[in-house]
Amino acid sequence: MAKARKNGLYTGISEELSALMRSGWADTERHDLTPDPQAPYAARRRAALSARFPGERLVIPSGNLKARSNDDTYPFRPYSGYVHMTGDQARDGALVLEPRADGGHDAYCYQLPRDARDNDEFWSGYTAELWMGRRHSLAEAETVLGLPCRDVRSAAADLAAATSAGTVPTRIVRGVDPALEAAVTTDEDRDDELEEALSELRLVKDEWEIGEMRRAVDSTVRGFTDAIGELSRAVETSERWIDGTFYRRARLEGNSVGYGSICAAGDHATIMHWTTNDGPVRPGELLLFDAGVETTSLYTADVTRTLPISGTFSDVQRRVYDAVYEAQEAGMATVKPGAAYRDFHEAAQRHLAARLVEWGFIEGPADRAYELGLQRRFTMAGTGHMLGLDVHDCAHARNEEYVDGVLEPGMVLTVEPGLYFQPDDLTVPDEWRGIGVRIEDDLLVTEDGHENLSAALPRSSAEVEAWMARVAG
Ligand code: GLY
Ligand code: MN
Ligand code: MN
Repeated sequence: MAKARKNGLYTGISEELSALMRSGWADTERHDLTPDPQAPYAARRRAALSARFPGERLVIPSGNLKARSNDDTYPFRPYSGYVHMTGDQARDGALVLEPRADGGHDAYCYQLPRDARDNDEFWSGYTAELWMGRRHSLAEAETVLGLPCRDVRSAAADLAAATSAGTVPTRIVRGVDPALEAAVTTDEDRDDELEEALSELRLVKDEWEIGEMRRAVDSTVRGFTDAIGELSRAVETSERWIDGTFYRRARLEGNSVGYGSICAAGDHATIMHWTTNDGPVRPGELLLFDAGVETTSLYTADVTRTLPISGTFSDVQRRVYDAVYEAQEAGMATVKPGAAYRDFHEAAQRHLAARLVEWGFIEGPADRAYELGLQRRFTMAGTGHMLGLDVHDCAHARNEEYVDGVLEPGMVLTVEPGLYFQPDDLTVPDEWRGIGVRIEDDLLVTEDGHENLSAALPRSSAEVEAWMARVAG
């Protein structure tokens, strides 16, 4: 008898059962698969990566399952750099670029193959296919990805042998697959440069990615329409209703949400990353709703609207809202090829600083307040970020390529100014406390300016009130 699992109801596996399980299975190899439409784009992305590191071996793992408790795991989400370079979403995979003498690379992909049925693991191991779902065979993965595939169970030994010989410099992305990382001999600083390069290669989206960004935003628009359409149910229940309603759309049309939805009613709106979403939704207050659908290809939108729950803004709410709206307009107006990346941030923050000086909340003049960053007490965050496979995309790019760089066609970024007056802020009048407003849209930089991908959602205070009136219908 094989050893039984602790606290399992079965006491073991008899020889007879083991033999019974191993036989009588059909050949289910799929011969009908076709290449992933993304495969030629992924090949071009690999060619760009290859050009950055001639003569070096590059290892880009996809990551492993993470235990939640005992044999329960979190949903698997592959490392975005691996997805970008392969189009693949399999766990326990790794892309390897092996240098050639001509300066280019040969790419191949380690994959966890299908379970053999010659031992008990295939039906008794909780991460086996019969428990978690079918994987591709290596031959199937080769067809889909357009890459030679190898059995990942030999990856650690192969790469340990290859890297300990020391003849070919090797880099691995760290923090993704601890076992593979432990097996290879690499240098941390040089590994960081690989992650930088992978981030920088995602700054400009290709045509296929732009299509996915449009899909992400379009699904998100439908999710906002669903959630706001059910605002009265949220008033009867809580922020949880908004969260759940949007999540249903995200699961229906995409993989999931691209980040924890922020469904922040009342003074929760002043908490930048309020994802607990368990509070009351009260008429007279604002709802700050920040959410994005992640497509099945793992590209995410990131959109915020701030709405008056009763349908109309109070005078103070409208003053704050309109100031944020004007700041967003000022920021978006700067977004075009050749502009400094920082321009939209500066334009929006200067506008907010001027309003805060006008209201008497910070000391002017406005330019001085901006230079000293005084508006940050009420604006907190930067005004936007790159968007793509990660909500805060390209986060490892060098400053000179990203925040100190220049906009190019194909970049996708958010513009999301906000004002947040904390409920315990004694420097503002009582009726301003607990008000938080953010407006966030997703912009594609085009050849001659930008396209607001999320423009279908009402944005000005008048448009938002008209939207609320339609919802209340
Ligand atoms: N949802 C996170 C952000 O807006 O950056
Ligand atoms: Mn957001
Ligand atoms: Mn954002």
